[in-house]
Amino acid sequence: MSDPLVLGFETSCDETGVAVIEGYEVRSSVLASQVDVHARFGGVVPEVAARAHVEAIRPLTHQAITQAGIHPDDIDAIAVTQGPGLIGPLMVGYSFAKSFAYALGKPLYGIDHMEGHLFAPRLSFGDFEPPAVVILASGGHSQIVHVKAWGEYEILGSTIDDAAGEAFDKLARFMGLGYPGGPAIDMESEGGDPDAVRFPRALRDRPYDFSFSGLKTSVVTYLEKARDAGELPSRPDVAASIQEAIVDVLVDKTFNAVEATGVEVIGGGGGVLANRRLRERLAEEADRRGVGLFIPEPALCTDNGAMIASVAAAKIEDGIPADDLAEDVTPGLRLDG
Ligand code: KG4
Ligand code: ZN
Repeated sequence: MSDPLVLGFETSCDETGVAVIEGYEVRSSVLASQVDVHARFGGVVPEVAARAHVEAIRPLTHQAITQAGIHPDDIDAIAVTQGPGLIGPLMVGYSFAKSFAYALGKPLYGIDHMEGHLFAPRLSFGDFEPPAVVILASGGHSQIVHVKAWGEYEILGSTIDDAAGEAFDKLARFMGLGYPGGPAIDMESEGGDPDAVRFPRALRDRPYDFSFSGLKTSVVTYLEKARDAGELPSRPDVAASIQEAIVDVLVDKTFNAVEATGVEVIGGGGGVLANRRLRERLAEEADRRGVGLFIPEPALCTDNGAMIASVAAAKIEDGIPADDLAEDVTPGLRLDG
């Protein structure tokens, strides 16, 4: 069988993503970001996000199909994020994809958003193969996953409070750096001293889990104390120190998992993996230990339709049957569930 042509939809949060892939080759991948819509609220407003997906999804689908140079009849299957995510946004993509599949008479695959992030390195690199440890860090999730084989996942650790991206977002908002916070702190850190302030690295006794709420309190206390003392700490220094604290923990825990599992391959996915300092630190450490590192280009780390389509491509390859059109979204879906 030739490589399947899959149309993929992603609408779990604040990006509408539609893509066409052929096997693991991206034919088109288009995105309607809602950053401007949510920026004035300082975060994602679910109802506003759902409405923005409704407006974007039809023209974006047209664009993805046109850019791929295909006719809708050529499509072998349709993939759509089923969960986890915000229920309203998920329902927009899922209903649209379901209708499209029904109208065209094509099979529909509901996909786990986090499995989509796991597959991003597979889309970027032809030679990324399990067994691997994959660090997933986004606005809603932070997990270390032992990918034993495709489709066989063990979540070794996760966050006990905020996700890493959420910590970036909340702290950037507190510092007045805007939304989304990850890219804002990444930019602001340039030229800053990562050792200027030693913020806490939590959960040293739990090798694969994360906690970022203590960091948040510590930064807030630090900035309030400075303000009360009439001091104005350097923003690049504070941003670089916050970033270093988050990156330190993500890197440490990833390599704890590499050591414990004995795998020689590391992958990464989720918006936080677009962070320049995190990419640099992972690369240094992987190099030092002689393990392979597969972190996709930033556009494939953040949410997109291609990663969702690629999971369906693998299912088709493995002969896994499509979903029943009577299924629905599953906002609380878990990778190991
Ligand atoms: O994977 P993603 O696009 O959406 C979710 O599934 O949540 O991740 C979005 C998160 C946001 O919290 C954003 O601040 C963070 O990824 N992010 C970054 C960077 N780019 C995006 N965090 C740190 N550094 C970045 N360069
Ligand atoms: Zn995501």
